[in-house]
Amino acid sequence: MPITYPPRLTLALTPTPLQLLRRVSRDSGGPRIWVKRDDLTGSLLSGNKVRKLEFTLAQAQVEDCDAIITCGGLQSNHCRATALLCAQLGLHCTLILRGEPASPADGNLLLDFLAGADVKTYAPDHYQKHLHTLLQDTAAQLRETGKKPFVIPTGASDGIGLWGYVAASEELREDFAHHAIQPKHIVCATGSGGTQGGLTAGVALHSIDAKVWGVAVCDDEAYFKAKVLADLQDWQHRYETPLALDSLSINVIDGYVGPGYAKADSDVFETIKYVARSEGLVLDPVYTGKAFHALLSEIKRGRFDDTNDIVFVHTGGVFGVFPQRNEFQFDN
Ligand SMILES: Cc1ncc(COP(=O)(O)O)c(C=O)c1O
Repeated sequence: MPITYPPRLTLALTPTPLQLLRRVSRDSGGPRIWVKRDDLTGSLLSGNKVRKLEFTLAQAQVEDCDAIITCGGLQSNHCRATALLCAQLGLHCTLILRGEPASPADGNLLLDFLAGADVKTYAPDHYQKHLHTLLQDTAAQLRETGKKPFVIPTGASDGIGLWGYVAASEELREDFAHHAIQPKHIVCATGSGGTQGGLTAGVALHSIDAKVWGVAVCDDEAYFKAKVLADLQDWQHRYETPLALDSLSINVIDGYVGPGYAKADSDVFETIKYVARSEGLVLDPVYTGKAFHALLSEIKRGRFDDTNDIVFVHTGGVFGVFPQRNEFQFDN
């Protein structure tokens, strides 16, 4: 299907490689597991957010905005990527973060400070109740100082950011042709829904015969089905898109949230250690570690028995390992 992309900046280092995990695949006894290495979209900018921000920040430039406001958890990968990109593009950046900062700053938060973002932190309850007002008040304050603000929602997951993984799906189609594989399933972590939504639309637009699965790392299946649909509707509302949304299936793997968002059981930490040692691939405890643990568990349960190859999208998040260093058990 011909696709007209909206304005886009070149920020991510793409195409990223698609790599086969030989030892993990052999151990799991199921389909061959391939990893789309979107943890390599940049060094400090690594991960899925850079792909979305190519479109989101381009839109901010179209609207002549010079100040970006966005939000997320204290260790948000999205906020870190936004802060660094704002520094790269010469834009003012304000981050509204949920949580009480530990001192000294660690992981993504340390990088937010290094990038010179104006970091505002709020107790989780206050953030949850007042996020909309916090964003609007910050925008109003910036306007008073003569700036033109642009607000990016959590995870850049909306109709604009969705384009990031519509475009990434085009890359996947080429990867599959290059490796001569026809995976029937593509799995990613889902946190604010934009990666899953972009892939869901992208595989349909690029005629890839695969099912996209988001592994819930917070909330639940009902929440993500509604959130992904809302982002897809926003996307269709903003742009001329040749897709009938009711033809898309939104698939969520639930049951692996564990103790909660950004909290993982010891199994997830063990999986992260196992994959790092078997393949030299580092996952994080908030998103990709949980999602990959779910993938291995679901392979064992037979969910993916109908395919020879399966693709896991590594969406980055390595800086989330450091603040959780005490959760890893090392016996050597
Ligand atoms: C490393 C990483 N993986 C996956 C996700 C989930 O992506 P999305 O927010 O598009 O659902 C996020 C952000 O939420 C993330 O930072």
